Amino acid sequence: MYILGVETSCDETAAAVLEFGDGSAPKVLSNVVASQHEIHARYGGVVPELAARRHVEMIAPVLEAALEEASVSAKKIDAVAVTRGPGLVVALLVGLSAAKGLAWSLGVPLIGVHHLDGHVHSLYLPTGEESDAPPPFPHLGFVVSGGHTDFYRVDGHAEVTHLGGTLDDALGEAYDKVAAIMGLGYPGGPIVDRLHAKFLEANGSGADPVQFPRPFLEDRPYAFSFSGLKTAVLNYQKERGLYLSDRNLPPWARPQDVPEEVACAVAAGFQEAAVEVLVEKVSGVVRRENLPAVSVSGGVAANSYLRVKLGERAEQEGWSLHFPARKYCTDNAAMIACAGGFRLTEHGRESFMDYADMDADPSWELGEASNG
Ligand SMILES: Nc1ncnc2c1ncn2[C@@H]1O[C@H](COP(=O)(O)OP(=O)(O)OP(=O)(O)O)[C@@H](O)[C@H]1O
Ligand SMILES: [Mg+2]
Repeated sequence: MYILGVETSCDETAAAVLEFGDGSAPKVLSNVVASQHEIHARYGGVVPELAARRHVEMIAPVLEAALEEASVSAKKIDAVAVTRGPGLVVALLVGLSAAKGLAWSLGVPLIGVHHLDGHVHSLYLPTGEESDAPPPFPHLGFVVSGGHTDFYRVDGHAEVTHLGGTLDDALGEAYDKVAAIMGLGYPGGPIVDRLHAKFLEANGSGADPVQFPRPFLEDRPYAFSFSGLKTAVLNYQKERGLYLSDRNLPPWARPQDVPEEVACAVAAGFQEAAVEVLVEKVSGVVRRENLPAVSVSGGVAANSYLRVKLGERAEQEGWSLHFPARKYCTDNAAMIACAGGFRLTEHGRESFMDYADMDADPSWELGEASNG
């Protein structure tokens, strides 16, 4: 069975073709992602109107490329899966309209997928490493991305319960804002990660970077708050006259570039504080929920320091830890096709044929009823 996935919830136009066999992990035949990072970089974040316009330009070529790369003709597609929410409504509508039109013209089912269910399902795509196994049920699903830092109890492919999450910024968003404050570029996560690695390389793994607060919120075991940590970085930069986002300043008024070793020490301090909080929280929740395994997905799951630190804790405490392949951490359509394929297998084709009125849902909560 061939599933075509479509994803346009934010600033990636993506399409993928997956082949589902009998019980084994789906095969990814193609996974095309057209990123808009260079369009949004100068604004330090995603501009919805620009994102939507770019999706309109890219959706047809991306769909064509996904089919071509998979060597599967459109007529062979058995179902289309598309991100229906949450996300930017103007962006979601581009992918949804294209997917609806395509499914209708082919006479195949259309599965509206929750974007975070997609991230949770990125764990069921092959990683390319034989030693990696997908997480068992039940497990703790931790989604840590540009818009979410949330815990889920995952009891099955369609049984996902929200346990709690961030009270303000998502961690990926905090990475992006901190990088913007420091004038480092967008998206911030990979840049901060690289500067932290440089800091460790130059100073040794025992060295102390800049110290920032660790918001553990002891009385709220499932919650996070990153706005204080972000403000601490802002204040540190301000107090020392270091680089601050210069978008609104004329060139002659802009602060000098910060020496690289200073930027590395600040980035390292931010990342060590954020990851320490993440590791403590995951450890606390997995113990409270008494679960044997943890999966981490979303863009921040690509972070190398987080992978190492969480791996050490998992080994100490005896739970299994699962990450997707790095290419499936940030937004992609393979994970959407994967979530759609499992739902189709469970509910059958007829449950997904009545989609004429399917609409985008920008604030859909995972766990709420969908078109299925
Ligand atoms: N190596 C990394 N370390 C830390 N953060 C990273 C890394 N790579 C990417 N990110 C962050 O991941 C985020 C993008 O992830 P993703 O595409 O999953 O988010 P999103 O789709 O915008 O949000 P959501 O899935 O919540 O709607 C960005 O904030 C980016 O800075
Ligand atoms: Mg995402």
